[in-house]
Amino acid sequence: MCNKGHSNPNRVVLPTNVTPSHYTLTITPDLKAFTFGGYVEIDLTIHEPTKTIQINTKELTLHWARVEIDGKTHETSSTSYDDHRETTTLTFESELPKGAAILSINFDGILNDKMAGFYRSSYKDTEGNTQYMGVTQFEATSCRMAFPCWDEPAVKATFSIKLKVPTGLVALSNMPVESITAVEPEEMTYHFEKTPIMSTYLVAWAVGDFEYVETTTTKLENPVTCRVYTLPGLKEQGRFALEITPRILEYFSEIFGTAYPLPKLDQIAVPDFDMGAMENWGLVTYRTVALLFDEKTSDLRFKEQVAATVAHEIAHQWFGNLVTMEWWDHLWLNEGFATWVGTLAVDHLFPNWDTWSTFVTLDMQRGIALDSLRSSHPIEVPVADPHDIHQIFDAISYSKGASVIRMLSNWLTVDVFLAGIRRYLKKHAYENATTDDLWNALSEESKIDVREFMNTWTRVIGVPILNVTEADGIVTVEQHRYLSTNDVKAEDDETIWWVPMGVSPKPASIADPNQTLKTRSLTFDAPHGAYLFNKDYSGVFRTNYPASAIPRIGQAILDGSDLVGLNDRAGLVADISSLAKSGHTSTSIFLDLVQYYKNEETYVVWELLSQRVGEISSVFTENSRINQGIKHFQRNLVDRMVQKLGWEFPEGEDYLTGRLRNVILRAAGRAGHEATVAEAKRRFALFISDPNQDSILHPSIRQTAFEIVLSQGGEDEFRQVLKYFHNAPKQDQQVIALLALGFVQQPELIAEAQALALSESVRSQDITYLLAGLATNPTSRRATWDWVKNNWSVLSQRYSTSMGLLGHCVKMPLTLSSDVALIKEVKEFFADKDTKDFQRALDQAIEGLEVNSAWVAREQEALSEWLSANKY
Ligand code: BES
Ligand code: ZN
Repeated sequence: MCNKGHSNPNRVVLPTNVTPSHYTLTITPDLKAFTFGGYVEIDLTIHEPTKTIQINTKELTLHWARVEIDGKTHETSSTSYDDHRETTTLTFESELPKGAAILSINFDGILNDKMAGFYRSSYKDTEGNTQYMGVTQFEATSCRMAFPCWDEPAVKATFSIKLKVPTGLVALSNMPVESITAVEPEEMTYHFEKTPIMSTYLVAWAVGDFEYVETTTTKLENPVTCRVYTLPGLKEQGRFALEITPRILEYFSEIFGTAYPLPKLDQIAVPDFDMGAMENWGLVTYRTVALLFDEKTSDLRFKEQVAATVAHEIAHQWFGNLVTMEWWDHLWLNEGFATWVGTLAVDHLFPNWDTWSTFVTLDMQRGIALDSLRSSHPIEVPVADPHDIHQIFDAISYSKGASVIRMLSNWLTVDVFLAGIRRYLKKHAYENATTDDLWNALSEESKIDVREFMNTWTRVIGVPILNVTEADGIVTVEQHRYLSTNDVKAEDDETIWWVPMGVSPKPASIADPNQTLKTRSLTFDAPHGAYLFNKDYSGVFRTNYPASAIPRIGQAILDGSDLVGLNDRAGLVADISSLAKSGHTSTSIFLDLVQYYKNEETYVVWELLSQRVGEISSVFTENSRINQGIKHFQRNLVDRMVQKLGWEFPEGEDYLTGRLRNVILRAAGRAGHEATVAEAKRRFALFISDPNQDSILHPSIRQTAFEIVLSQGGEDEFRQVLKYFHNAPKQDQQVIALLALGFVQQPELIAEAQALALSESVRSQDITYLLAGLATNPTSRRATWDWVKNNWSVLSQRYSTSMGLLGHCVKMPLTLSSDVALIKEVKEFFADKDTKDFQRALDQAIEGLEVNSAWVAREQEALSEWLSANKY
């Protein structure tokens, strides 16, 4: 127990006069009445004589509670409840003496439909009847919705769990079943083995009509049984996750220097799930599309999503579950590390997937983009009230967190870094730790003061920009805070980061192998010919080259020079397009750069190229000259690849080529590439007329084809895609239909798509898929913001307990807009509303509008001129 010693007096925590060591818990769910009964006996230590015990509960009814000490029973004289702190205070008739005690509580609760606590999730059985399963989601503070407990990560205990369920249903929990007893013919009790000492947020169970596929590890001294559980009929879709699970367990057991400590690892697909997945120890829960995958019918991109999610959650089995953050302040460490090491595992398993490059183009860019706003926050933020966690469930904790860990691991070398991780896990196993504990372990291992390097990355807000200038053979580099609004003030710009500059080829005058810039500025002799900063895009910063450097670097790209590797080519597109948007350089310079990518054929770079060029036509959508010109530019850009890749997926084709084909066709479709639009229509018509011929639209380009036909104004096609959605047997097929439906053009159909978002047909977890399309589609963007406003009371009610869905609803329709009038409108709309739960998302949306509208105002003229001069 080490929840002492922290310095924040505002933390919402329980008193420490009484602490638990073991819970014996019996839960009896009623899947028909949507309630559950519960009985818990908690072994306690009373540290000081007391008349009261405070314990977390939420939406539970306590029938009675008593304490047993040395055979003597102490009844409660009263109980009281604190709504905000979610605590029940039990007051006893007489003072409870110091020492061991057992607290027994009889209670019941609601099997809710809010995806938090012990909740129900629905599905249709083969006869079309609605059925329910029950499952838990406790992080961060919903364990208290399932049983009374000390619901804090540092108050670890052991758990013996029993589930009393109707005969025929399967019951799962963190540990294997120890025994099953039949209580009555129609009811059985599952007794699970006692857990190791652990935090309450990682306790889990599930009840339902499940089936599974199973395997075991082969390389571990104590073999681990791995199962993937699904609803009836779906288990075969668990094969891919099942295949990678033992390999990931073995890999982590090796690099972490500690074997997976439990005898089994179950993973289960849950049809209603607030997030992507949850790392409950020994029983990991997933959103269906993050666990199940069908080689024949799934879009290929879900394969990577499954691998990444499984690896991430398994990483937590050590980093989070075995060693747990002392308090929610360190959530970033849990999540940032799991994201980094999860990527390491995916790269290990699938070296041909270029996973690290995808990390550079997606994760890293998301993190840097968010951190380029004033409304960002430092990676390390004090969290006084755990209710505020969903505000930091964002790209800063995950993506910037993982990016700075990647930078640190490169700085120390991955081997030394992992040796430090092993040291940290050994030292704190079955206990709690802080960010500083990790820095200590890494410093001991590397003999370098890691804290000094990392503090500038985790304790302060923002990322740096390196402004590079060159004169008379001398390069000068100067660091400043990078803001997308390009209006940095002295008070924003006080940090001097430790920046590993990664200049390549390495300048002779810099001795430090890491080239760490620790001062505001530095000069060195210019290397001969082209040179790059941030080689391999290892560092978390933007590089602002002088205009004269672009043709030199561009030529190196064109020549296929080793100087510009995959991450470098991707990083250049990311940096220069971002700097164009923020006004540090011009959009014309970005477009000049893009023209050097004539020979580019990789998925990773094309993903970014199409995204960044597409963003210009999207944000400048009101200016039809620019919108049309950029589309023309985009058509020219992709034409060669469209010809090369076609629409067919040859047998045995490598993974990334399949992904690339989709990126190219989507970019071509969005740019109005005629042949692509015609082929999409042709194939769609065939696909609809004969569903048995579904190979005409391979699952990996189906969403793109749907999107194209809808964007082209297809009314009948809207009905057909809707029908596909309603009839799709698999959740990932529904997802691709939802993602496409938002691209419809007619106002009445846009309204229909919006209404669908809140209808019974769309699970509440899936709303963002529909909104994503509606927010990207220029025709529906504005109407979708109005729709969010008009449905605000329903949305805010529905997503009140969600980790982030409400914030997404606010942010998505505003993200691509450049309408300056919206800023005032948004502020006015929320002026009289409680925005506490999504304030950050709201601020970020408003700042994004400022950035976009400034971009359009600043560049309209010059960009039109560039387009004309270049005949677009
Ligand atoms: N532990 C998190 C989920 C979580 C975080 C729940 C904070 C409550 C509070 C889990 O490990 C996670 O990170 N899930 C991600 C998926 C992952 C692949 C990035 C998610 O749900 O998005
Ligand atoms: Zn996680």
